[in-house]
Amino acid sequence: MHGGRERAGCGQTVRVPGEQGVTTVSGAPMLRRVGEASPLAARFDDMLAQGLQAVSDPFDRNELAAVAAEVSSASWKRWHAWRTPEDSRQEHEWVVFANAMRITQAEGLTLSDKRVATAFTFCHDSFHISRTTEAMIRAVEEAAEIAERHDAARGGELRRRAAQMRQDKQQQRMRHMEGGGRNAELLLHQLAHPESRDRPLLEAEEIRRCVDIIKGHDLWETGAPHPPGSDRLAVACLEADALWPIPPLGVLADLERPVDEGRAGDFIDPGDWTMQVAHSLRTLHRVSRQLGERPAGAVC
Ligand SMILES: [Fe+2]
Repeated sequence: MHGGRERAGCGQTVRVPGEQGVTTVSGAPMLRRVGEASPLAARFDDMLAQGLQAVSDPFDRNELAAVAAEVSSASWKRWHAWRTPEDSRQEHEWVVFANAMRITQAEGLTLSDKRVATAFTFCHDSFHISRTTEAMIRAVEEAAEIAERHDAARGGELRRRAAQMRQDKQQQRMRHMEGGGRNAELLLHQLAHPESRDRPLLEAEEIRRCVDIIKGHDLWETGAPHPPGSDRLAVACLEADALWPIPPLGVLADLERPVDEGRAGDFIDPGDWTMQVAHSLRTLHRVSRQLGERPAGAVC
């Protein structure tokens, strides 16, 4: 646990995540521009500070705080402030950021990799979609299974609907990844480093890497064996994102998403929560099987 002020490698005095739970860069509130746009800013500050605590090296932590502040602020203003429940909750990126910091730290990835993972976090879901989820498809498949026992025609109709939903989901995800990649490329090339405005926030190669990962980050949702196990950064980004439906905010996002005729699930009913968590775990087991089954280095 770190607290108080520390001297960064560049000579800049910054406050790092500490027991007071405040993170600042150059003495300014870390998400000051987000603060102008959202009442959620204080909460996002805390979530960023919490995520950064996973990074053990003080220089790396300060650098990642700067990258996170710039990218999260810019992506909030451009995209995430307008996110609707059909897509997800607005806290998504901040939860994924904390996951990404823990995973990249545990994997011993480089500072450059962590910078890319940070940019990925705040840009990967910038192209919002109405999501057809695995839980929605499973519900129709289970209804088909029951109907087939006494009404073959109805069962067949539900099977066809589930197949159509799976196809829709695949197309949605492809659009989402392509659009997200384009958005990230446009945004990241515009951002300057807060310590020196004449230097880019990310190197061109880091941006290219980030865009590549975004363009494939949901392929696992379509059953494709991607990313290759040897690509530890892409796997870390995928895992950070795929863990989202497990914590309460992620479960809530699924319960709030409108399903039939615009109705959302009941996010007060404990039964709905239990069922949603069970769905999330099934999906997570599927992705971990997909990642574990193929040989390291296999490409899609
Ligand atoms: Fe995501």
